Amino acid sequence: MNRILIDTDPGVDDALALLLALKSPELHIEAITTVSGNVHVDQATQNLLRILALLDLSEYPIVAKGKSKPLVKPLVKAEHVHGNDGLGNISELRNPDGSPRYPLANCDISTISGVDLIIEMVRRFPDELVIVALGPLTNISVAIQKDPECMRRINSVIMMGGVFSDYGNVTTTAEFNVYVDPHAAHEVFNSGVPIHIVPLDVTHQVILTGERLIAETKAFNDKMSKFLIESTQACMEFYRENVGFYGFHVHDALPIGILTHPHLFENVTAHVQVETEGNLTSGMTVADLRGDRVNTNPNANVYINVDSDKFLDSFFQRILS
Ligand code: RIB
Ligand code: CA
Repeated sequence: MNRILIDTDPGVDDALALLLALKSPELHIEAITTVSGNVHVDQATQNLLRILALLDLSEYPIVAKGKSKPLVKPLVKAEHVHGNDGLGNISELRNPDGSPRYPLANCDISTISGVDLIIEMVRRFPDELVIVALGPLTNISVAIQKDPECMRRINSVIMMGGVFSDYGNVTTTAEFNVYVDPHAAHEVFNSGVPIHIVPLDVTHQVILTGERLIAETKAFNDKMSKFLIESTQACMEFYRENVGFYGFHVHDALPIGILTHPHLFENVTAHVQVETEGNLTSGMTVADLRGDRVNTNPNANVYINVDSDKFLDSFFQRILS
């Protein structure tokens, strides 16, 4: 069983990842921390409570709010992709009696910060805790700066972010999570902590189309299937207008899939660096992934392939179970 902490900026694809993780018996989610990224951390924390309310959980993971802005760069968000509230504007939906269609879970937010909760969880589960990073790496880099001794006991960080042989999704060269906080990514990549990177090169291989989502959910009429349909529409509309198909990439669900179905994925070791200052290349992740190169001083595992069909099959089997 994997003990994990999820650091997240929900975010439509973050929501799918969180639901998949919460419905995966192989994973024990000890804690969830939020960070500014797709939306401000205050909104991200509200969104997390909305997501947790979708499941009848007997107990909630510990939840704590993290950093509201990147280490150095001004915060760049992605409401244009994920909707004004970051969850496809479902927070505006009401039942006939006027009550919220998607209320918040009755789950306390910890009085300690997200950064301190990360440190506390590593201290509680040394060498065991896996940190799954689904947003900018701000919280994790500040935790490493604050208590490097303790943070050396992280089992590993598995992060969605970066891009190598594909195009970026914010600029031509940069993926959103690393673009938002390149200084945090630089800190984490050079910290000595075992890093597993899940870049756009692999997440772009997995497309959830509107057609597939309808086909998978039409036999259901429950809270979960309605949430999957209603929370993803804004994102799919953005893709239709800007990417050319009605659907979207389920980026953040893939790190969860690597933990539950590792045989569906392929990775290589590499030495990864981050550009933090370039005018055209800020947030660019740089590595030589050509398998025949002898990797001097590798600092990361980089995922390069996934069996997309089998991953999506396993995703729907779990999330609609
Ligand atoms: O580039 C995709 C990543 O940026 C995903 O984590 C998405 O949620 C956004 O945070
Ligand atoms: Ca995210």
